[in-house]
Amino acid sequence: MIFAANLKCNHTRSTFKLYADQLNRLSWDKNNEIIVFPPSIAFLEQDLNFTQGAQNFYPCINGAYTGEIGKEHLDEFGIKCVLIGHSERRKFENNDFIKEKFDFAKKYGFKVIFCIGEDIKTKKENKTNEFLRKQLENIDLKYDKLIIAYEPIYSIGSGISADLKDIENVLNFLNSLSKAKLLYGGSVNENNIAQILNINHCDGVLIGTAALKIENFIKLIKDNSC
Ligand code: 13P
Repeated sequence: MIFAANLKCNHTRSTFKLYADQLNRLSWDKNNEIIVFPPSIAFLEQDLNFTQGAQNFYPCINGAYTGEIGKEHLDEFGIKCVLIGHSERRKFENNDFIKEKFDFAKKYGFKVIFCIGEDIKTKKENKTNEFLRKQLENIDLKYDKLIIAYEPIYSIGSGISADLKDIENVLNFLNSLSKAKLLYGGSVNENNIAQILNINHCDGVLIGTAALKIENFIKLIKDNSC
């Protein structure tokens, strides 16, 4: 199973160091993969027993891109995994730019967790699959380091995850489009994680709020890893 934690704009350099130190003391069966996306200011250079990923990057090696982080900066921390397409970034990034980021990440062999998800209006209009297909149409669905994370916008940070049946239907649909591993994200917590991981084609979870405290994240991993 994949247990990914997106810390978003939470944790500082000092608090993430403590977070990582605790996670580093854990050992788990190699069937599981743990990925953590800290804020980039908190990236660590030390050896880690989990994958450290980047929440964001600019599709350049380096250059005149004020305020951005390029590949050279990720390389310095040994980062080989990136998040692309999160709904909280899609507010600032259009499809062309997202494609540019994906193509760049693919060119340089990064593992990509590509997030997609519909809003509540689209869901109510029964247009979910059509919408998700469009979000995926510009990227290479055969890329061997692609992981797709289904994160319906209405479930992110709401405390209420999507309906299990809806998740199952979407994961089935995604599996018909791509053989990439599939994650679910959106209010995953200790009460719903086991049922979510049990869904057909679910290879793991992308957790926000419930992974902010390291003891909570560790409990979710320990109780649910195979
Ligand atoms: P929450 O778990 O807080 O809903 O966040 C999910 C998410 O956006 C992970 O990328």
